[in-house]
Amino acid sequence: MRFNIIGAGLAGLSAALTLAQAGEKCNLISYAPSERAQSVMAEGGINAALDTMGEYDTVEEHYEDTMKGGVYLADPNAVWELCSHAPEIVRELDRLGVPFSHNEKGIVERSFGGQKKKRTAYVKSSTGKMLMTAMIDAVRKYEVQGLVTRYPRHQLIDISIKDNMLSGVTIQDRFTSEPTFLHGKTILALGGMAGLFDGMTTGSAHNTSDAQAMLFEKGVEFANLEFVQYHPTTIGISGKRLLISEAARGEGGRLFVRRNGEPWYFMEEKYPELKNLMPRDVVSAEMVNVTARGDCEGQVYLDMTGIEKKVWQTRLSDLRDQCMHYVDIDPVRYPVPVAPGIHYFMGGVYVDEHHRTNIGGLYAAGECACQYHGANRLGGNSLLGAIYGGKVAAESAMNSTELRESNESVKNDVYSGDVPPILAKKISTILYRSLPIIRSEQDMLTAKTELGSLLANPHSIAEHRRIILALAMVESALNRKESRGAHKREDFPERDDEHFRKLSIVQMQDGAIRHTLREIPERRS
Ligand code: FUM
Repeated sequence: MRFNIIGAGLAGLSAALTLAQAGEKCNLISYAPSERAQSVMAEGGINAALDTMGEYDTVEEHYEDTMKGGVYLADPNAVWELCSHAPEIVRELDRLGVPFSHNEKGIVERSFGGQKKKRTAYVKSSTGKMLMTAMIDAVRKYEVQGLVTRYPRHQLIDISIKDNMLSGVTIQDRFTSEPTFLHGKTILALGGMAGLFDGMTTGSAHNTSDAQAMLFEKGVEFANLEFVQYHPTTIGISGKRLLISEAARGEGGRLFVRRNGEPWYFMEEKYPELKNLMPRDVVSAEMVNVTARGDCEGQVYLDMTGIEKKVWQTRLSDLRDQCMHYVDIDPVRYPVPVAPGIHYFMGGVYVDEHHRTNIGGLYAAGECACQYHGANRLGGNSLLGAIYGGKVAAESAMNSTELRESNESVKNDVYSGDVPPILAKKISTILYRSLPIIRSEQDMLTAKTELGSLLANPHSIAEHRRIILALAMVESALNRKESRGAHKREDFPERDDEHFRKLSIVQMQDGAIRHTLREIPERRS
């Protein structure tokens, strides 16, 4: 039997490698070649407590920082496993040839947001690209042996579920439109939902969210959709947000706003311990607050002019090139105007610690899955979560017998169409207005009404699904009547552990969106 993996970014490649190393066959299905997956765009690094920087770093501290950064909404057992496996994952990547920065003690690590120790291994600010190059190469060996069969330029258009058990998936060739049914246990590695905020994210336009919308309609549970991460340092360029990596602040970059005409390094004054490297939700909210003050200008700048020449040359040369190329500012000499931009979705397909979804035979890993990051992800934990999650999902799939037998053949009537750009933009505008960094109930209620009116108009299946997914996101935000991590409300400014230290689960049942709160597992001793 073959396994199916949907998505050939880092999580998908990790799953394929795990299966192939165990001698199992898989189909690796992707919208675009791996070289164009969103993982390639990841910049700053990958976290692991290697303790190579003389700071006595430990796995326990990585665990604590991750749990605290996610405001205690992540599964503690899953996070513990993630952090404990991180050192061996980074060492294995090193062995695979990833050109991490090294010194005489081993891999050099840098400071990153929300972490008290230097714990982020990096390759300048192109870490994702370098990890992907090594993983693509590692998987290629098994492609040659026939263990991994690639289906590039294919998209997931349907899944077959009966009595909560999967039998397989239908994929479609993007060039010929030909559908193919593939029986087998399936690992979703779809990436994030950038398409819900079309042109407003640092993410890839290939991640339309249409696969997620289809899965949601078919009864797959999703969790924590309200937690949308705004990265503090992005710049609007044509059709997207350009990421200025957190590495810039990790290497000494400082945020300021002009207050009464003078630069005010507000993060340093307010947060003397972590300063500019507070978790992303905190930095982004502070940026909103200072630019709203009467004595401050409306623009925050990232001041990198104090970074040493050698650091620019050895660690940030590509970030400098990016600033010069896209916004014509040399960051060595001038501060760069920045603003928070949508960067990551903490919520997604619900999975348990073993990356199992609510459907037997269906697994999920990477950004498409809700795991590890709780209410706010720490920078450097996404590459780690993708690699580790892909491996765990593959192991779970291998160890389970859950799969419905099937003699299904190709269904020709399941292609649901595309969401036209004009509607995609409408949905995105509604979502963006209602889910900013600090949210108001009125804006969310307005969004609910607007999405409801869009639903009332005639539309294709794909359009209907996208609107429903957007509605589930807004309703999840409305139902969480507290502020936690990336979900901050002006009407409920406090965290409410008693009622809301829970996962918000959404699922389609009998044509309606059903919301429930689910307990977070206790940490095993
Ligand atoms: O800022 C960054 O380099 C982003 C890294 C991440 O999201 O993990």
